[in-house]
Amino acid sequence: MLDAREFIRAKRDGRRHAAEDVRVFVAACQRREIPDYQVSAWLMAAFLNGLDEGETEALTLALLHSGRMFDWSGLGRPAADKHSTGGVGDKVSLILAPLVASCGVLVPMVSGRGLGHTGGTLDKLESIPGFRTTLPPDALRAQLDAIGVVMVGQGPDLAPADGLIYALRDVTATVEREYFIVPSIVSKKVAEGADALVYDVKCGSGAFMKTREDAGRLARRLIAVTRSLGRRAAARVTDMSQPLGVASGNALEVRESVEVLRGGGPADVRELTLELAAAMLTLAGAAADLAVARGTALRALESGAAWERFLALVRAQGGDTASVERPDGLAAAPVVRAVKAERSGVLSEVDAFGLGELVVAIGGGRIAKEDAVDPRVGLMVRKRLGEPVRAGETLAELHLASDDAAAAARAAACFRVGGSGAAPALVLERVE
Ligand code: URA
Repeated sequence: MLDAREFIRAKRDGRRHAAEDVRVFVAACQRREIPDYQVSAWLMAAFLNGLDEGETEALTLALLHSGRMFDWSGLGRPAADKHSTGGVGDKVSLILAPLVASCGVLVPMVSGRGLGHTGGTLDKLESIPGFRTTLPPDALRAQLDAIGVVMVGQGPDLAPADGLIYALRDVTATVEREYFIVPSIVSKKVAEGADALVYDVKCGSGAFMKTREDAGRLARRLIAVTRSLGRRAAARVTDMSQPLGVASGNALEVRESVEVLRGGGPADVRELTLELAAAMLTLAGAAADLAVARGTALRALESGAAWERFLALVRAQGGDTASVERPDGLAAAPVVRAVKAERSGVLSEVDAFGLGELVVAIGGGRIAKEDAVDPRVGLMVRKRLGEPVRAGETLAELHLASDDAAAAARAAACFRVGGSGAAPALVLERVE
């Protein structure tokens, strides 16, 4: 029996854990033998004192083997997936998963909830009334066979220990470390049974990795660990110096995803979705090269095939399809407050981290583990970096559960108008 106090003390004092101790600790967490406060204390000790490569590998394996390993080879089609390291307004998964499935590749997508200042795919999906984000293994297989896509979270069968630790990291300020991020992502993605994994490594003020150097290193590490577990992997380092698209907040992002699936929506969301779809289709062996794959993905989007597959996914997981078919079908916030520019100039800087934290603070994420998220709240960012802005123009709209002038002031402080600024490139690096 592991003495959790000794395990915490070892890391607090900067000592290295033996792989077996990491395995025993994670297994005990999973059996709920270690209370949240001790897991959290260890997380903070490790956040501050680090885990080396061996400890990171041990954590990855322990999380991976905390549940079952799924295998879809019997379904006769390649299985691929994408995972983002987390950003603000990043709703790409909602569009990408049905899109790639409609191109003939299985997408057994396992996602997370909001993490720190970033939004989570599961919270977004749950703003669709009735949508279930856990499925028993048999149902998962049957759905994947029937429509080629599932979108679920870590559950009792699938990397459950990641689910527990992830929920604690979210609320204990222990998120942005490579040695936590790599095990968390790779464990659930390998467990879900995808053969080919594309990582979207976010970089900039709204990402966990603020610099190109850190983001590039995380991309290479994700690829290396994934390949060491026998899966194909590639990555894109992409811009997160401003929120992706217009909407940030759960129901607002579902609405924007629907717009893209129906052929409209913001250009950056559409472009990033096509970039990642091409990478997935190529890596899965369903297209000869990236250009061919992009053409396939574009046709699926423009023909309505991806949208039809999204509706099939919502239906299969118990969601109310009418709520996404009608523009006003999802719950809306009762108060909308405009955030205006005080001066004219070019939008030169956006504090995307601050905007993500604001969405959490107004109810779109969790401050404590037990919190419920309010699907209605969030923000619509109307100006992009490098765009000219006139004094009095709307920079953003805040969607609130009740009027909140302080939140609007906080949002305004996240935009800098003046000086020089240019639109950043969306894809910063391709790591094949
Ligand atoms: N996504 C995850 O699943 N885990 C992390 O730690 C970060 C992003």
